[in-house]
Amino acid sequence: MRLDKYLVHTGYGSRSEVQQLIKKKKVKVNGEVEKRPECAISPSEAVVTLGEEVVDYKPFYYYILNKPAGYITATEDPRQETVMDLLDSVTRGRSLAPVGRLDKDTEGLLLLTNDGKFTHSLLSPKKHVDKCYYAEVSGTVVPADCEAFIQGVDIGESKVCMPARMEIIEALEETSKVYITIKEGKFHQVKRMMKAVGKEVTYLKRVTMGDFKLPEDLELGAYRQLTQEELDQLMMK
Ligand code: URA
Repeated sequence: MRLDKYLVHTGYGSRSEVQQLIKKKKVKVNGEVEKRPECAISPSEAVVTLGEEVVDYKPFYYYILNKPAGYITATEDPRQETVMDLLDSVTRGRSLAPVGRLDKDTEGLLLLTNDGKFTHSLLSPKKHVDKCYYAEVSGTVVPADCEAFIQGVDIGESKVCMPARMEIIEALEETSKVYITIKEGKFHQVKRMMKAVGKEVTYLKRVTMGDFKLPEDLELGAYRQLTQEELDQLMMK
């Protein structure tokens, strides 16, 4: 692979930006300054450095972000902050896209990747990957609501929702706390399902996708690459 292409892929800028870095002698390949953007390197074997930084080459990148409220799930937007604004510039340069969408006010587990097949395998309705949400709602959730979710609630689409699980954590007079597990990913699905049983979601956080759980030590707004073990959990779906 050409050195300039490698640096674009790994997130260090556009083709012309990385060519400037190379011309300015900022890039070393296996310890030697390399001034030729066209220099052919073996991406998986070469050790490429920019100053002190060793370039992390991967054919595909996979990240977990603990999304805070206030950011839209999009790669760019002219007016609103997107989840991409939470990433450092090298990570942002890796052509990542979110795997599915969380509403602006929803928090929690959001995967980001440049691997389209991976995204498809998790989002395809045929794959039925479970997504579990923690929700706080206004009103008292009752066992009949759980039953309605199992039967499939009508949210005004051509078909009722697929069976969903609701586990009541706490049901008080004015508010309730629940876990809801759905297999689909319709627009505002959890909020609309709750509305169908007469309640309003006041707080929503995605906590799992398939067997993968949002890591407890990942702070709100923080992100990191998935480990191989975590990727395996997700890819088994
Ligand atoms: N369901 C919703 O209503 N909102 C989300 O962000 C995710 C699922």
